[in-house]
Amino acid sequence: MDVSGRKYDLMVAVKDELNPMPSEVRPAAEGDAAAIRRVHESAFPTGAESRLVEALSAADRLLVSLVAQVGERVVGHIAFSPVTVIGGDVPGGVGLAPVAVLPEHQGAGIGSGLIRAGLDRSKADGHTFAVVLGEPGYYARFGFVPATRFGLGNEYGAAEAFMACELRSGSLAAVEGQIARYAPEFAALEG
Ligand SMILES: CC(C)(COP(=O)(O)OP(=O)(O)OC[C@H]1O[C@@H](n2cnc3c(N)ncnc32)[C@H](O)[C@@H]1OP(=O)(O)O)[C@@H](O)C(=O)NCCC(=O)NCCS
Repeated sequence: MDVSGRKYDLMVAVKDELNPMPSEVRPAAEGDAAAIRRVHESAFPTGAESRLVEALSAADRLLVSLVAQVGERVVGHIAFSPVTVIGGDVPGGVGLAPVAVLPEHQGAGIGSGLIRAGLDRSKADGHTFAVVLGEPGYYARFGFVPATRFGLGNEYGAAEAFMACELRSGSLAAVEGQIARYAPEFAALEG
């Protein structure tokens, strides 16, 4: 019995499992809309996040919008939109939301790749700081710290889950007591 062929197939399968196809991050294009919707609808329990992305896009407030692709397939998406500091003079803030990866591709580093690339892009585009509302243990690895450390508040009454990251050194030095506000599309979704 010739087992060498089967042995080879098994070796390839194990190798593929250990080395999944690499993902590539690139700016989202117009033709990606349906794939982006699918990513958010699959990753989140409701359609709220996919509607948010569409509303931000329609309002021209997707400052940074990147997709992760494996082969020909879009498997992840991240969006950054403008954030203003109420009562302060700190221009150039961005809010990271939402970020999602198709469930079957989660845990392979794709979300981290999108977040790092999104922050790099935001910085390169001249944005001065980023905020995120999320799991502190996860976002700390990308340089986010609790926004309370800068004295920066938020509209949601979130405590340590509201995090901030300077993209330009010192950009959050004078926000003590001020409130970061996301784009109006976020409030529209809440109501
Ligand atoms: C959050 C998300 C984008 C991360 O993408 P991913 O490709 O799975 O993430 P990575 O593979 O780069 O990182 C995996 C790590 O993130 C951690 N992680 C993932 N989601 C997390 C969460 N909600 N809270 C805390 N940690 C989380 C995993 O435990 C894992 O930790 P490890 O590296 O110590 O093992 C993805 O899990 C997702 O789409 N989740 C559903 C949508 C969502 O909750 N989005 C975030 C809020 S906007």
